[in-house]
Amino acid sequence: MAPLSGFAVVPHVSRVAGRLQVPGDKSISHRYAMLAGIADGVSRLHGYAPGADCAATLACLEALGVRIDRGPSLTIHGRGAGGLKPPSAPLDAANSGTSMRLLSGLLAAHSFRSVIGGDASLSRRPMRRVIEPLERMGARIAAADGRPPLTIDGALLRAIEYTPEVPSAQVKSAVLLAGLHAAGRTSVIEPAPTRDHTERAFQAFGVRVLREGTRIAIDGGQRLHAVDAHVPGDISSAVFWIVLAAGTPGSDLTIEGVGLNPSRTGVLDVFKRAGANIEILPPDGGGHLALGEPIGSIRVRYGSPQSFEITPDEVPGLIDEIPGLAALAAMQPGISMTVRGAHELRVKESDRITMLARGFGALGIAVEEYPDGFTIRGGPPAGGEADAAHDHRLAMAFAIAGSRARGEVHITGADAVAVSYPGFFRELERIARGQ
Ligand code: S3P
Repeated sequence: MAPLSGFAVVPHVSRVAGRLQVPGDKSISHRYAMLAGIADGVSRLHGYAPGADCAATLACLEALGVRIDRGPSLTIHGRGAGGLKPPSAPLDAANSGTSMRLLSGLLAAHSFRSVIGGDASLSRRPMRRVIEPLERMGARIAAADGRPPLTIDGALLRAIEYTPEVPSAQVKSAVLLAGLHAAGRTSVIEPAPTRDHTERAFQAFGVRVLREGTRIAIDGGQRLHAVDAHVPGDISSAVFWIVLAAGTPGSDLTIEGVGLNPSRTGVLDVFKRAGANIEILPPDGGGHLALGEPIGSIRVRYGSPQSFEITPDEVPGLIDEIPGLAALAAMQPGISMTVRGAHELRVKESDRITMLARGFGALGIAVEEYPDGFTIRGGPPAGGEADAAHDHRLAMAFAIAGSRARGEVHITGADAVAVSYPGFFRELERIARGQ
């Protein structure tokens, strides 16, 4: 049953077959909307992510004077680089860390005061990682204990060279967005590669980005031109259906129109190690390029399940996929998954180590917690009630594992799926009915 006031009874799935599509990519949607907002001219975005996170970005942009017309596609009237208007009230990033961190980069470069806050979960998340570089560039940012809300006094910025302490696409993007408005060449040196949607989006909007090994640089003062863009399907949403098909005997599912940017497909290697039969169509890893982002289909068939490990160096490339992968282990008898080097999981929408262990524990699945990861052992779940802890990816992970449980599974806080995938439970119902 679809979640009403946050409570879901998970339907039982006995096989997954056919084709489906997932909503537009969340990371790419945020970036296209922000760049369209500061471009010269009118952009059209097709397939913009329907979730609450990306809606929060649009609402913030509107509060900053950007006109946005909503229809089957989005029409965004750009204000030109440096052209945002002072907001008349605090900006609300809701649950969205990406909205807050990336917008901070833009706000730092506008010479007015703005306040940006969010919900209870976002208010617990660390922001020093963006405050520090943006202050070095010349902005002033006040935040109690380095957490939201942020009060940003923007300024004329100077370029910096910055090496973030943690690999983070959000930090990299905040610095590059600020750097676009700064005097001189701003560089970010990545401690480990992270998703490169900002770099690709800049190029699509006509901004020159220099990429040399781990260094990404941008010259300030460049103008952006408007685009007509299609947002590919979100591989992080697709992962939940891949898990369901990979963990359910007899399944054969194709997910169409998925973004296959190599900085996001690390999870597919893990699926292969976990024994899933994964095929990328077209086989070269994405034929169609939507504005510099490869797109293709993923076919997944049930294979021969294996226990699997995720190594620390793989973590930055699949951090959002870890709850889904945990569900894959939880569903299957005799299968275990171990991940280490994933401290960052503790500062996501929830503490994704503790809350994942608690939720799967409530369904009868053993999880051993470490400071930087966990080991989870299948399965399948006995049944019970798991709390999604207001975290969309935990809600979906519990639902997927729960759809293969021996008994009934309930999820509290299931309405959190609206953050990235409002139609998730409708799709799960459809799959359960075998349609
Ligand atoms: C994102 C980057 C990642 C990811 C988040 C989206 C982005 O966060 O977990 O869901 O769009 O840049 P970090 O930059 O904190 O690693």
